Amino acid sequence: MKNIRLSLLALAVVTASQSALAFQQGDLIIRGGLANVVPDESSSNIIVGSDLGVNLTVGNDTQLGLNIAYFVTDRINIEVLAATPFTHDVNFGVPDPLGTGNKLGEVTHLPPTVTLNYYFNNPSSAFQPYIGAGINYTIFFDEEFTHENTAAGLGGLSLDDSFGLSAQIGVDYMLNDAWFINGSVRWVDIDTEASFNLNGTPGSVNSIEIDPMVYMIAIGYKF
Ligand code: NI
Repeated sequence: MKNIRLSLLALAVVTASQSALAFQQGDLIIRGGLANVVPDESSSNIIVGSDLGVNLTVGNDTQLGLNIAYFVTDRINIEVLAATPFTHDVNFGVPDPLGTGNKLGEVTHLPPTVTLNYYFNNPSSAFQPYIGAGINYTIFFDEEFTHENTAAGLGGLSLDDSFGLSAQIGVDYMLNDAWFINGSVRWVDIDTEASFNLNGTPGSVNSIEIDPMVYMIAIGYKF
């Protein structure tokens, strides 16, 4: 009888300490929040026949971000990042070089990213920082010039998809057994090139490094 009591006590202790873990192997988590994409861009010059001597800049955008992660061990998860499409202004590197305004056009993209994350704090702590590395595939669509630039003869804008590395740091803070808040900062290597035509003459921008930082705040739920 005494042995049974001790066993039950031991089981209770094990169960209590397990439920106190922030995350453990087999947990599935989902996070939703705001993602702000801030390009740290550099580009080569616009070429139409010859070098126009003008490059590009790319603006910021904020959208809904969503990610799902599965814990393959108590400390390691595999995360998939999704979002509503980001639309960025593309501007001339110098003001109004063609007399069509500063803005050249807009591009929209989706940046699905798969990341392996490592949690390094005590697993029973509510404060769970992590670091991660992964791969990104960025799909560009709805590339378009402004009306002014279209009227000036620019058309057929297209950006190549990008495949590259990403890295992030983040933290989950457990509010209770299921809910938590999250913040993360992610760097994504997004490199592309643009093609277009000007009154039928092919043009290009051969190197556009967007390489954004992605800042995300979110609410998370653990299943
Ligand atoms: Ni790059």
